[in-house]
Amino acid sequence: MSAAAMRAAFALDPAVLHWNHGSYGAAPRAALAAQQAVRDRIEGATMRFFVRELAPAMAAARAAVAAFVGADPDGLVVVPNATHAVAIALAAVPLGRGDQIVTTTHAYRACKNQLDRKAADAGAEVVVAPLALPLTDAAAPAQAVLAAVTPRTRLVLVDHVTSPTAIVCDVAALARALPPAVTLIVDGAHAPGSLALDVAAIGAPYYAGNLHKWACAPKGAAFLWVAPDRRAATRPLVVSHGATLPLDGSTRFRREHDWTGTHDPSAFLAAPVALATIAELGGGWPAVRAHNHRLALAAAAALGEALGADPIVAPAIADVAQASMAAVAVELPPGATGVALVEALLARGVEVPVVEHPGTPWPLVRVSGHLYNDLGEVAPLVDHLRALGVRGRRIA
Ligand SMILES: Cc1ncc(COP(=O)(O)O)c(C=O)c1O
Repeated sequence: MSAAAMRAAFALDPAVLHWNHGSYGAAPRAALAAQQAVRDRIEGATMRFFVRELAPAMAAARAAVAAFVGADPDGLVVVPNATHAVAIALAAVPLGRGDQIVTTTHAYRACKNQLDRKAADAGAEVVVAPLALPLTDAAAPAQAVLAAVTPRTRLVLVDHVTSPTAIVCDVAALARALPPAVTLIVDGAHAPGSLALDVAAIGAPYYAGNLHKWACAPKGAAFLWVAPDRRAATRPLVVSHGATLPLDGSTRFRREHDWTGTHDPSAFLAAPVALATIAELGGGWPAVRAHNHRLALAAAAALGEALGADPIVAPAIADVAQASMAAVAVELPPGATGVALVEALLARGVEVPVVEHPGTPWPLVRVSGHLYNDLGEVAPLVDHLRALGVRGRRIA
């Protein structure tokens, strides 16, 4: 099926050039219809839904998502987004004065902000390990973290796929090498659907993932997987009925996390439809991942060639060190900011991130697409960037 035919399966605006699947994803129409059907069921009889139907429906959706990411459903906490998932994990790790938290210069800002608050509350220190660009060694992200670990380190937060720079960290190697006293939280916001996942096998006690990005669920579908030995001590951010309800054969962990107040569960309940729809459209998930990986690398290469822009990950390691996104280094016109350029691109109907981030010495353009993209869409992207004065940068 052509990309144009694929596009019809999504609710995307055809007048827009879509080169930023990574930030917010895009849900297929079938998943949006399934979500609407859940909302209709809720509004048709609220008590019937929340008292009788919600728990079995969530158990079924959790089982489907857990199978997709390699987790046991009992350890999967459903949350609206990865930021929330990271907050729950952070709150569960006891820290004292003088303890250290390690992350990298490529950490997602929202989660780094949470680390800073946690450290300030505990009198702990955040150590930011530098990750140099261009990346020429796929082992470098895990090694950079390990080099920053000291006997005072209690917590590591690492992105499985970094957001500004689209770099994959070998989190399983990191988990194996960390001392037992260090809790590893993996922020896998970009991983489900872009990497083959077996979260329980990674060896990290906490794994946060978004489903609305690469798995194409409606917005507001995400999870935190918690290892069995950490579940009893991992509380939701909001205390609700579950703290005192009888267990009735369940666990306090499940009771507490399964209900944190009235909410709309339709995005998560539609996630299994999104998973099945994308698999059917793309010929199975391995083929979908391979398509998006090749598309990102080829789009970045074509963009780089047209603009004279180097990729920030050496092509020789890109198959291992990148997933479904890739970035090239650019020069912005004098006085322009990334934010202003994103605005100018949006005004032209173009969606692509122009990244300025403390973890990278140069501004970047990051490209990411899904089944609905093809490489013919690179040329118009180049035209728009050129028209706005964005030029390529040589960094190799
Ligand atoms: C590495 C990383 N962590 C966390 C997030 C936050 O995701 P959300 O806004 O869905 O919480 C993102 C979003 O792009 C991300 O890339």
